[in-house]
Formats: sequence, C-alpha cells, structure tokens
Amino acid sequence: MNIKKKILFSAIQPSGKLTIGHYLGILRKWNFLQHKYNCFYCIADLHSLTSLNTKNFINLNILDLVAFFLSCNINPYKNIIFLQSDIYEHIILYWILSNYVNVNELKRMNQYKSKSCLYKNLSLLSYPVLMASDILLYNSNYVCIGYDQLQHLELVRKISSKFNKIYKFKFFNLPKYIIDKNFSKIMSLINIKNKMSKTDINKNNVIFLLDKPDIIKHKIINSITDSNIPYKIVYDIKNKPGISNLLNILSGIKNVSIKYLENYFIDYNYISFKKVVYSELSKFLISFQEKFFYYRKKIYFLKKILDLGKNKAKKIAKNRILYIYKLLKLK
Ligand code: TRP
Repeated sequence: MNIKKKILFSAIQPSGKLTIGHYLGILRKWNFLQHKYNCFYCIADLHSLTSLNTKNFINLNILDLVAFFLSCNINPYKNIIFLQSDIYEHIILYWILSNYVNVNELKRMNQYKSKSCLYKNLSLLSYPVLMASDILLYNSNYVCIGYDQLQHLELVRKISSKFNKIYKFKFFNLPKYIIDKNFSKIMSLINIKNKMSKTDINKNNVIFLLDKPDIIKHKIINSITDSNIPYKIVYDIKNKPGISNLLNILSGIKNVSIKYLENYFIDYNYISFKKVVYSELSKFLISFQEKFFYYRKKIYFLKKILDLGKNKAKKIAKNRILYIYKLLKLK
C-alpha cells in the first residue's frame, strides 16, 4: 500500500462466463486504475449465492477469474486480489450496516424490482447492503462499477453518511464512482436495446472471452444492423445502434478513437465492416486466450495469489471491525 494514494474498490461475481463487456467495461479499467490507486479487486462469491434459488447450485469459476485478471496484466503483488468469503468481516459489517438501511429503500432498487418477480430470497433484497460492507470495510474513496450498479452505489453513499451523522464522526468515506462511460454499455448483438449479459439465454447476443473464432464470426455476422440509408459506418446510437455497438467494441480492443474508425471505414459497407470486426476481435481474443490458458494451468500460483490477498485484506478488515465495535460500544 502506498499511503499517498487513495483507495479504490471493485468486484466481479464469479458466476457465469465473462464477456467482452466485462473486459471493456471493467477489467481494462482495472488495469488502468492500478497505477493510480491502492486497489482492492474482489471476487464477490457471496454475492453469487443470490442466484442459488433459480439454479439450485452454482458453478463458481474463481480460479478462472484470477487467471483473467493476470491475462489483463493486473498485478497481484501491487493490488489486493482476494475472495470475499475469505474475509468474514464482510458479513459482520453487513449486519451492522443493515441497521442503518430502510427496507423501502432496498425495495426501490431496479435490480431487486426486476429479479424479485422470479424469486423472493431475502438476500436479493439485502444485496446492496453487502456491497456497502465490501466497499466501506476498506474505507474506499473510489469504486469502479458498471452503470447497472450506480443505484446501489448511491445507496452505499447514503448508508455511509447516515452512519457518520449518527456517530458525529467521519468514520466512512463517501465513495465516488468510476464508470467507463463508453464501454460500460456494450449492448447485446441482436437485442440491441439490452446490455450484453452473461446470463442471456440467447448466446448469439453475447461475445464470451473464451469464444473461438468460428463462433465469433457467426455472432458478428448475425449481429443486428439497420436499414437506414445511407449505409454508412458512423456512430449514431439512436439511428444505428448496432453499428455503433460494433464500433464501440472495435475501438476498445484496438485502442483507437471512434472518429478514427469512422474515417477508416468511410467506403465500407456493413458486410465488409463486419468482416474487419470479427477478424480483429478473433485476433484479439486468440492472444488473450493464450495468456488465459497459460495462467489457468498454474493452479498453485493462482491459489497463492488469493492467499496473499487474503492475508493483506484480513489485517485491514480486522482492525476496522475492532474499531467499529468500539464505536458501537460492543467492546
Ligand atoms: N454487484 C456487483 C456486480 O454484480 C459486484 C460487486 C459486489 C461489487 N460487491 C461490490 C461491485 C462492491 C463494486 C463494489 O457487478
């Protein structure tokens, strides 16, 4: 830890396969942020339990995630990479914080509203309180999230300021969010109005990080475009959402601006444009997958990274909880 740097927290759930949206919106950003902040990168396995009821079991891919982080050049020695369930203090703080949250506020969360018609577990409702605990346990200044978590973060800020007000003491920071504006909204390839999601039943909507080139080709060729004349490759979310989405993906993996791409594709039609998109995407994912499988085989190393993160996170979490116990006069 560098005490001159601010603290950043972010987490990914280890359920389901990661998509190009995770890479562009979160993992690429994590790589960038590690140079600026003291980063806690958490694998939120306890959050994944909320989907237990729908499937009766969950397949967690914890070591896959660690290998993904390494493939994105996220440094395991500089950052604290750890597993949420390794640090019991998350649950203690979760319980403490739940005393400062109004149930009606939780019921207003969009994620709760959209999922509670499927199942009614308490954990679905209290999900954002566990997020608050993740973030506030390490007194984070910043939190890297996707747009879908913005409402949850606003609630975390509320919980934090309510707690501080009651104890007349700025114990928790009011964490600010960091969202990658362009890339945290990678849309589905066919149902272009929906965000690309790993849980989509139509797999043709989603590019997974471990998709093979023939699959990528099929998905990109079948992705939705438009029949707006002129058939130009331009970024126009309203009238050409499909083309704009592909431009966004391409600009992310090639690290070039949308303007540059619009100029480059000035004489292209949709099909020749899509050919470039899938061939560039395949090239990118093949080299990414090479790195991934290289790291994924090193099971001992991956487990050691989680151990290292556990030890570092545990020390901080333990002290914070002791402090809170004193504040609440529990000790
Ligand atoms: N709920 C987040 C998601 O599904 C994951 C998460 C858990 C998280 N705890 C967090 C993200 C704390 C940011 C901060 O994407």
